[in-house]
Amino acid sequence: MKTITKTDIKPIFTKDMIEKRLEEMAETLNREYKDKEVYVICVLKGAVLFAMDLIKKLDFPLKLEFIRLSSYGSDKISSGKVNAVDISLPDLNGKDVIVLEDIIDTGHTAQFLSSFLNHNFKVASYKFISLLDKKCRREIDIDPDMYGFEIDDKFLVGYGLDLDGLFRNLPYVGYVED
Ligand code: IMP
Ligand code: MG
Repeated sequence: MKTITKTDIKPIFTKDMIEKRLEEMAETLNREYKDKEVYVICVLKGAVLFAMDLIKKLDFPLKLEFIRLSSYGSDKISSGKVNAVDISLPDLNGKDVIVLEDIIDTGHTAQFLSSFLNHNFKVASYKFISLLDKKCRREIDIDPDMYGFEIDDKFLVGYGLDLDGLFRNLPYVGYVED
């Protein structure tokens, strides 16, 4: 297999596009959660750049939590199986909860999270927010409550998303040319 380098990656969502969209998303959230105290859960590792940039724009009180899930192997095909590497969370009963994810693809991860939270807590409210939405790949009938950009069936890297652990640090989202 050919080694993928930065030159094989074609930017689709630039740093500026992401910044602008995050402003809009934050504005909506700031209106909706005004004066509430919210638990924001960042899904590691992919959502880390998105979450860190978005929370800086939020002005309601929030507590930040991290969970670590994995679903992709070393190829570009979703395994459809969600692996909870670390899902320790505080007591979320009666809390307003926002989950931040990098991308919703088959929907297995989103469904896993919503049933995990449902099973363990009676939260006051729950929102699943994803930077990217690959709607055409859905296997489960589930949609994010808010997303940054919709994309067709391309394998994306950058801004948190990886290929075999690489490219998470790119400041933009790009696709790998076949
Ligand atoms: P789902 O469970 O199939 O919806 O997949 C969700 C997870 O798969 C995401 O959190 C990502 O970590 C990973 N994923 C899905 N599509 C891509 C992609 O295009 N690039 C990198 N990771 C992806
Ligand atoms: Mg992820």
